[in-house]
Amino acid sequence: MPGEIKRAAEVLRGYRGRDPVEIVSHMDVDGICAAALLSRALEREGIEHRVKFVRMLYREVVEELDPAPLTLFTDLGSSQLPHLRERYRSGRVIICDHHPPETAEGWGGLLHLNAHSMGMDGTREISGAGMAFLLARELNPSNSDLSPLAVVGAVGDVQNAWGRLVGKNREILEEAVRTGKVVREMDLQLYGRHSRTLLQALEGLSDPPIPGITRSSEGCLELVRSLGIPLRGENGWRRPADLTPDEKRRLAGALLSLALGSVPPEFSRYVPGLIVGEVYTLTGEDPELSDAGEFATCLNSTARHEQPVIGLEVARGNRAYFPAVLRLLRHHRSSLARGMELIEAGGVKLGERGYLQYFDATGVVKETFTGTLAGLSLSSGRVDPFKPVVGMVRNGGRVKISARCSRLLFLKGLDLSSCLRRAAESVGGEGGGHPVAGGAQVPEERVEDFLRLLEERMLEEVAPSP
Ligand code: C5P
Ligand code: ZN
Repeated sequence: MPGEIKRAAEVLRGYRGRDPVEIVSHMDVDGICAAALLSRALEREGIEHRVKFVRMLYREVVEELDPAPLTLFTDLGSSQLPHLRERYRSGRVIICDHHPPETAEGWGGLLHLNAHSMGMDGTREISGAGMAFLLARELNPSNSDLSPLAVVGAVGDVQNAWGRLVGKNREILEEAVRTGKVVREMDLQLYGRHSRTLLQALEGLSDPPIPGITRSSEGCLELVRSLGIPLRGENGWRRPADLTPDEKRRLAGALLSLALGSVPPEFSRYVPGLIVGEVYTLTGEDPELSDAGEFATCLNSTARHEQPVIGLEVARGNRAYFPAVLRLLRHHRSSLARGMELIEAGGVKLGERGYLQYFDATGVVKETFTGTLAGLSLSSGRVDPFKPVVGMVRNGGRVKISARCSRLLFLKGLDLSSCLRRAAESVGGEGGGHPVAGGAQVPEERVEDFLRLLEERMLEEVAPSP
């Protein structure tokens, strides 16, 4: 299969000086990183190109696409081969994807680079951006310096849910570390290591939420004071990254014992890995972009507001777009605050078997926000954080479903994406995604059946082993 990558690189080189190549990428963090990576690589080779983002390659979406002389699909395509074949069978296409491939046949002009067919587990060992990176580096070894984008893409797809990047992702990470552009270290897994004050970061702890700490400024203040950790330093408010190793150790110990006191016993063994884990710092970036996870959040907010091109430019290193990202991030947070009112007002219901939690956000948030809202609800105190949450938005006879769960559930064996896919397919819909963040689309008249089937599947996966 690496031979396929070589051939794809040769095909790309052949398009120098010709009509623009079109990159069609997934409108999410990984897709933005994949497109940014190949866009930089093509630019360096003097190959003209344009970039387009799509949320899903549903048949009707593919019908709207206009085949270019060469089209590069990144972070999607492998599981929609039949749709693509109908539209592109007379065209030249390279697919660079990590989603499980359709067994359907390709066509003469297709070069299909898929992680699974190359012997890698695309759900955990390599992302779409990682696949794009392998192609970019084949095109020119100097593209090795684009490796940090593959790290952000993998983190965006939650491929570090095991506490660290593994497989090919790890090799790419090591490459990024060698370029000096990424620092890898074990640290407290606090969101905002470089961009938030210590208290803000602690209040934001959400997976697992810790009673008395999550969303409690007084509780955080009391904890930090009791540990003798100064809140201010020479340069003002201290950020989690400013803590000394000893302070971090003490704080980790305290958080761990508080978390263990609130987590159901069956999850206890996974908790340490959620408090302390591997973190990735991108050197030379603004504070909001210097943690790979926060870089991913910034790109995510551009994708969710249908402005992925802003994310693309930032990922390409175009700092002029950074203020626009910060504006989107603020707008993103205010939209979510509106959604949280629904959750706070008791809008979350329980499935027939008391396991699945769900809410209907039709008319409250856009369907592109439902997933983020479902994720946020897990630390709201209004839902059980140790059970999955599903949000839905009805639209024109279809229901868009988004599901989220704690990494604890996933570590215990729950894979939301497979549950969603199977339940959705049983009612004539489709679904997929990642183990802790998945989505689906189902016909409105079957949504009750879907929820019931989904709850059954989930209960099967989390059932204690006999
Ligand atoms: O829309 P949301 O953020 O909830 O999607 C979460 C994940 O589920 C994404 O990776 C998305 O690609 C996937 N998904 C899917 N099939 C759908 C909807 C979403 O595979 N019909
Ligand atoms: Zn991906």
